[in-house]
Amino acid sequence: MKNNHLKIGFGLVLILSMSMNLFGQAAGVEEKIDSLLRLMTLEEKVGQMNQYSGFWEFTGPPPKQDAAKVKYEHLKNGMVGSMLNVRGCENVRAIQELVVNESRLGIPLIFGFDVIHGHKTLSPIPLAEAASWDLEAIEKSARIAAIEASAVGINWTFGPMVDISRDARWGRVMEGAGEDPYLGAKVAVARVKGFQGDDLSAPNTIAATAKHFAAYGFVDAGREYNTVDIGTSTLFNIVLPPFKAAAEANVCAFMNAFNILNGIPATADKFLQRDILKGQWGFDGFVISDWGSGKEIVNHGFAHDLREATELAANAGSDVDMESYAYIAHLKNAVEEGQVEEAVIDDAVRRILRVKYKLGLMDDPYKYCDPSREKELLYHPDHMAAALEMATKSIVLLKNENQLLPLKKDQKKIAVIGALAADKTSPLGSWRLGSDDGTAISVLEGLSNYSTDFKYAKGPDLTEGLVHFVFELKINETDTSGFAEAIQLAKESEVVVMVLGEHGFQSGEARSRTKLDLPGLQQQLLEAVFEVNPHIVLVLMNGRPLAITWADEHVPAIVEAWQLGTQSGNAIAQVLFGAYNPSGKLPMTFPRSVGQVPIYYNHYNTGRPASETDVFWSHYIDESNKPLYPFGYGLSYTQFEYADLQIEDTNPNAIEVRVTVKNTGKMKGEEVAQLYIRDRVASVARPVKELKGFQKFALNPGEAKTLVFTLTNTELGFYDNAGKFLVEPGEFDIMVGGSSQTGLAGKLMLK
Ligand code: NOJ
Repeated sequence: MKNNHLKIGFGLVLILSMSMNLFGQAAGVEEKIDSLLRLMTLEEKVGQMNQYSGFWEFTGPPPKQDAAKVKYEHLKNGMVGSMLNVRGCENVRAIQELVVNESRLGIPLIFGFDVIHGHKTLSPIPLAEAASWDLEAIEKSARIAAIEASAVGINWTFGPMVDISRDARWGRVMEGAGEDPYLGAKVAVARVKGFQGDDLSAPNTIAATAKHFAAYGFVDAGREYNTVDIGTSTLFNIVLPPFKAAAEANVCAFMNAFNILNGIPATADKFLQRDILKGQWGFDGFVISDWGSGKEIVNHGFAHDLREATELAANAGSDVDMESYAYIAHLKNAVEEGQVEEAVIDDAVRRILRVKYKLGLMDDPYKYCDPSREKELLYHPDHMAAALEMATKSIVLLKNENQLLPLKKDQKKIAVIGALAADKTSPLGSWRLGSDDGTAISVLEGLSNYSTDFKYAKGPDLTEGLVHFVFELKINETDTSGFAEAIQLAKESEVVVMVLGEHGFQSGEARSRTKLDLPGLQQQLLEAVFEVNPHIVLVLMNGRPLAITWADEHVPAIVEAWQLGTQSGNAIAQVLFGAYNPSGKLPMTFPRSVGQVPIYYNHYNTGRPASETDVFWSHYIDESNKPLYPFGYGLSYTQFEYADLQIEDTNPNAIEVRVTVKNTGKMKGEEVAQLYIRDRVASVARPVKELKGFQKFALNPGEAKTLVFTLTNTELGFYDNAGKFLVEPGEFDIMVGGSSQTGLAGKLMLK
């Protein structure tokens, strides 16, 4: 049948792109799409809804052996609309040429890739970036990621991940902005803006994807790909706001999710995709499935077979099928036999083509394939400088007893201990497919710029053998060689910098943990070193909050350095030696013990919030309710004092909250002032605290600044259990401070 088609090719697509309407005006994108849709066969339309991974890389379960041949034929025949995991100008051009020259209509492909926190030059993992609370810096980081990714032919990223999560066991918390929907929404917008820029058709901007729609961050027990069953209040007030913000920021695509949400697989969820996203929010981009999530509808027990899964997903508004081979196998028949209306297909294809037009691919399919950009821009010095700045801003100072930090410039006899101190790959995190192993500045390299008086002892290996790929990861639990040398060095030293934490592949997709301790032999090593030298600065490298309660009780200084990307070691050294005064604040609560998880600051009060009887109240018998480090917490080498909270409520549409913050210490520093509200009584109970504003600013010693926060209905309202936004009059607490647990409090009576 296909061979009987007239070959029309890209020439026509280009003519359509430039065509005029009846009135002689250049045709608008929608008119061009109308014309193109009229030319397309049903099979070609379905082709646009089909996405394949490249032949040589995969970021999900590996394809079958003969997949490459099938994919090649499908590409040639216009049965593929986009690819993932193809990169490099040469590779992208080769596949684009195949499609543009060989398929009947020659509609260009979009090339997607997981550009999560940079492409070659890596910024900190997204959770770490969120700890900066610096939206400008985060936007810039995404901008740079787009510049580098677009230089290798990529024109679409599967980011930002805007999933809120309260469960540090879930490996993908590293990829989000933490536990709070307000911060999460702001960060989502910054990232979308950074990736997409002002002009999507420019060769250095890429389409962004808000993922995973929805509630993937609430997998039961933090176990990857597990069930999600949450209430409507959590869905509307916690999960959806960052997605809504991304849609309002004109993100090009949404990705649905692996999980079921309250019994419905996200990929087949009509309510989420059609009613909310495309209906209420008016989203005009397209929705892509997650890798194979279309076929997993069958595993979920929601469809009998792939054919039914196809119908359900398409009808629910999942426009593109990533690697399920479902649409390509069944969608045409489903339309012909009446289970899916052709209008559903037309709508999906329109959405996909719209993004192709926006990206400029319909005018020039090779606009992202300029090898000179590839040469010039990867690891560009400006990108390295920005990655360093972002990395310093992402570090959170958790503890600093007796001002052990910053280390003096002439500090003598520093011991550096821990396998991660020399690791040049773990700081790149697990989403580093586009980058090169071994390209992170290690802590040892960073420190060598500040001190010549340090010695290194690795201690025990963190892993058993070298780890090049996630499948090879095995944490060393038994081989204690290296202990003796480390202890000896600690004995001979004045101060010990211990670099401990998680291997880069211990967080990320499919890397849930049941323990939140220091993996392997590291806790044992820490305690052994402490025995001989308690002057320890613990530098943590990790992709999730850890329950380091022992360390908090014993070790005088703790620096949360996450996985900071290419410039990791330089940023850590700057903070240790005071060249940068740490300013990060936690975007996610650190538990005291894994049994407290999920633990989060914006919890409800419960009916029994405090002890009246000593026993029958909401608590544990073996652990406090308090976190180890709360949301919004982070120290500085200077101190900030909050004073003079004023709440101006004469204008009920815009309440002004003023507070004065003064740097009372001896060093210039940056502070993140946070505003929280509590709606005391509402028709649906509200949490004890909700973040509703923040400002990051620098102050010199002795300097003070008066901040003004504005609260409107948007901040004061909430969604009821039917998803309706309500603003209810009554009493509110207003709290402003340097964390979710400290600061000044006042009252507001909303009329
Ligand atoms: C599965 C992940 O869940 C998703 O986030 C990612 O974009 C795709 N794989 C493609 O790599």
